[in-house]
Amino acid sequence: MSITIKTPEQIEKMRLACRLAGEVLDFITPFVKPGVTTGELDKLCHDYMVDVQGCIPAPLNYAPNGHKPYPKSICTSVNHQICHGVPGEKVLKPGDVVNLDITTIKDGWHGDTSRMFYAGEPSIQARRLTEVTYECMWKGIAEVRAGAHLGDIGAVIQRHAEAHGFSVVREFCGHGIGARFHEEPQVLHYGKAGTGPRLEAGMIFTIEPMINAGKRDIRVLGDGWTVVTKDHSLSAQWEHTVLVTPTGYEVLTLSAGAPPPPAFIQA
Ligand code: MF3
Ligand code: CO
Ligand code: CO
Repeated sequence: MSITIKTPEQIEKMRLACRLAGEVLDFITPFVKPGVTTGELDKLCHDYMVDVQGCIPAPLNYAPNGHKPYPKSICTSVNHQICHGVPGEKVLKPGDVVNLDITTIKDGWHGDTSRMFYAGEPSIQARRLTEVTYECMWKGIAEVRAGAHLGDIGAVIQRHAEAHGFSVVREFCGHGIGARFHEEPQVLHYGKAGTGPRLEAGMIFTIEPMINAGKRDIRVLGDGWTVVTKDHSLSAQWEHTVLVTPTGYEVLTLSAGAPPPPAFIQA
């Protein structure tokens, strides 16, 4: 398989699936506070996707080759958990930072987005890491236009993260998305500008940098899914699904409650 170019009709369906994924994050925002369990957040999002939006939660029973089926409907990655945190009995406590990652399927098309949330007041370091990671995602998005190289995205993300003394996770990356959850290309969050395939209008992929406060090394927990920093340092992630347009990009997973882009993004 190669990188698919979506037709105008397919792009319209992606717009809907992606906006709905963003709206799940809008919906869950007031529930993310100390005392809630990650399992409760999963249940709330599951029921909203299924009963209110008429979506299928893509993670539930997702089993890419070599993996056992993912047992829940969203990913909840707390503090030193990098990604794919499996919801359960864990209670959020004041000062925790958590990434909620939502992937909807609507009418056969996937929308994938994640945000960071603070339970109570975060530490100065957690806030800084979260903000710099948000800037990393948007710096990557700002590189997107027909004719740019895929490697341009990773290069700006790596430069910004490392300029702040943070590290970029290498084992997981952004991805093409559409009728399938994960398609070509792999969108690395590090690398060299001017390398990789050229972007073409109609490509759709995610940009979802995972940035660690400490070293970049990872470990996977015994549940087979939850990815953590080996040194137990904090990790942050943000994700949008992005369409390549002839002149730039369209962020498909924006919704009414999405935080505004950083000031360096021109409207
Ligand atoms: N949503 C994740 C991503 O951004 C993938 C989660 S796979 C799961 O690619 F099975 F853990 F849900
Ligand atoms: Co993704
Ligand atoms: Co995701």
